[in-house]
Amino acid sequence: MTPDLAGHARIMALADLVTPMSVRTAVTLRLADHLDAGDLTADDLAARTGAVPRPLRKLLDHLVHLGLLRAAEGRYGLTDLGRLLRRGEAPMGPFDQLDLDTVLGRTELSAVHLLHKVRTGRSVYHGMYGTDLWTHVDRAPGTPDDLKAQLALPPGFDIDVLLDHPVLARARTVVDVGGNTGALVEALLTRHPDLSATLIDLPSFAGAAAQRFAAAGLDGRAAALAQDFFQPLPAGADVYVLSAVLADWDDETAVRLLRNCALAAGGTGRILVSEVSLTERLRHVDTGMTLWFEAVMDNPDRSPDDLAALAAEAGLKVAAVEQAGTRIVLELHG
Ligand SMILES: C[S@@+](CC[C@H](N)C(=O)[O-])C[C@H]1O[C@@H](n2cnc3c(N)ncnc32)[C@H](O)[C@@H]1O
Repeated sequence: MTPDLAGHARIMALADLVTPMSVRTAVTLRLADHLDAGDLTADDLAARTGAVPRPLRKLLDHLVHLGLLRAAEGRYGLTDLGRLLRRGEAPMGPFDQLDLDTVLGRTELSAVHLLHKVRTGRSVYHGMYGTDLWTHVDRAPGTPDDLKAQLALPPGFDIDVLLDHPVLARARTVVDVGGNTGALVEALLTRHPDLSATLIDLPSFAGAAAQRFAAAGLDGRAAALAQDFFQPLPAGADVYVLSAVLADWDDETAVRLLRNCALAAGGTGRILVSEVSLTERLRHVDTGMTLWFEAVMDNPDRSPDDLAALAAEAGLKVAAVEQAGTRIVLELHG
């Protein structure tokens, strides 16, 4: 049989890891910013970026091959395409996920562990870090700075179905379990002026949320508690919200978390479980992104029935189910 050399070359190009890592290394070293003022030699660039000249020169040559840089007389400069990699002082550029010095950039690298997800069903992070994503991010060096960049982001994904939920309109106190940097709490308190909130999250996220609440003048009505949400939660609130949290956990752990909320909610509190599912929306347009969500979460695809089954296992009853666009909201009680 004659080997299909063109086919082999195509497959190797599809499987290439060097080019994606070259682009990421260029972004992390901010090469485009260094070259913005004019062409430089590899030695100049090594001095400016703190890099080692010999491997850097090979990186620069590959970036020339990729059309991101051009080279003439030992000096490198930006092409029109390479100019797009300039980041300046902007905290969140379009390519921030390519910066390997940031938490976001490091989470992107987890795609290398896709096999772990496909073989075990557990998110790639367990294969890569031996823990879940959030514990890893919480402990990662530099995390608080990264999180500051998130503080401006409003909550998304058809959030109104949660913000306007009738249970929240009647409530005076809410606990946002896994509330991240506080975007949802800020939106809830803005929409419901009589509501007070306690946010629970891991220390770096809770710290960023506290900053957000202070900056928004909400610190009288919103508290951020740094605590593990598998430990006993503040008891007796009117509503416990779990928004986009359960997708990160397998069924057994999700039931444990629901039981923990049920314990705190007692006989009178309500639990709102809200999940975002992008799979149906994306599967025909971006299979890579659909796979990415599958890889980084334990289960991004639970339906209202799946969530109701988890709730039943945790001893909870479903009072109402709402769905709008990408978001599902289940109202649960003990
Ligand atoms: C996908 S984010 C959800 C953020 C937010 N609720 C929303 O609707 O966008 C999951 C959150 O759960 C938090 N989390 C994960 N494990 C936790 C734990 N053991 N204790 C407290 N928070 C945790 C993460 O830090 C993260 O902020």
